[in-house]
Amino acid sequence: MSIAVTGATGNLGQLVVESLIGRGTAASDIVAVVRNPQKAESLAARGVVVRQADYADASALETALAGVDKLVLISGSEVGSRLAQHTNIIDAAKAAGVGFIAYTSILNAQDTPMKLAAEHKATEDVLTRIGIPFALLRNGWYWENFTNDLAGVIERGALVGAGAEGKIAAAARADYADAAAVVATTGGHEGAVYELGGDERLTYAELAEKISEFAGKPVAYQFVDEQAYEGILESVGLPAPVAQILADSDAAIAKGALDTESGDLQKLIGRSSTPVAEVLKQA
Ligand SMILES: NC(=O)c1ccc[n+]([C@@H]2O[C@H](COP(=O)([O-])OP(=O)(O)OC[C@H]3O[C@@H](n4cnc5c(N)ncnc54)[C@H](OP(=O)(O)O)[C@@H]3O)[C@@H](O)[C@H]2O)c1
Repeated sequence: MSIAVTGATGNLGQLVVESLIGRGTAASDIVAVVRNPQKAESLAARGVVVRQADYADASALETALAGVDKLVLISGSEVGSRLAQHTNIIDAAKAAGVGFIAYTSILNAQDTPMKLAAEHKATEDVLTRIGIPFALLRNGWYWENFTNDLAGVIERGALVGAGAEGKIAAAARADYADAAAVVATTGGHEGAVYELGGDERLTYAELAEKISEFAGKPVAYQFVDEQAYEGILESVGLPAPVAQILADSDAAIAKGALDTESGDLQKLIGRSSTPVAEVLKQA
């Protein structure tokens, strides 16, 4: 059984490969599809099959997926180009005879107000049309999204965001990676739609409290509206379109877009999600 993972040099992709190996998949049965093989040297050293393909290169993708039975399609990171890229991968999978695709989508993809979800929704629609059995791993937020600037948050004593009172049922990347590995290594997932979120459903204020407990000093949530948040993100160097889409996502948190009580993640991985406190420690 050959299992391919796209984005295998990314944060989530590396964890998916780890989890596949941890669940007994032979490294030689894993195909890491990467755009930069230099970044994949440690994977190759462990015996993982590394194949190069940029998401823009349809023929390289088809070659990379030759002989693959199941594909974990990790969504790309180039917002705005992703539908074309994902379509290339799905078409290549079809041409290569791949038998199953697990796609990392976003929570509530079909009816969320988040602009970020548009490419996920459209990719889900491509999967529905193409005729390859598939499962949707609709991932919620990573807790790690809040730890990129953890030192700064602690120093300022302020966690800034536009999420207001919305609950965020996030989980650690490693939890979502385990879910993907379970779906790729066990049967019965064809047609499944998994709404994946963690056990801890926290508002920004509750997350600030967790950070405060971890840091041993006061950290409070500071609400800013979407427009102000967009300005803040731009002021720390994010390109305007990225700042805009992230601020929109944050505002959607206020409407509950990243909350779920489905329990799907916990059922798949057979355990609770990683506690936020643990993610903070690791960061
Ligand atoms: N749920 C969440 O909170 C959340 C947050 C952020 C992102 N996401 C989504 O989840 C995905 C995985 O998350 P992550 O943390 O692993 O992101 P990441 O570390 O940025 O990984 C993205 C992966 O996609 C690869 N990639 C991007 N463009 C490509 C292209 N044109 N051709 C081939 N490979 C390409 C990257 O290759 P390189 O290694 O060469 O850069 C990388 O391996 C992201 O791409 C995004 O769609 C979800």
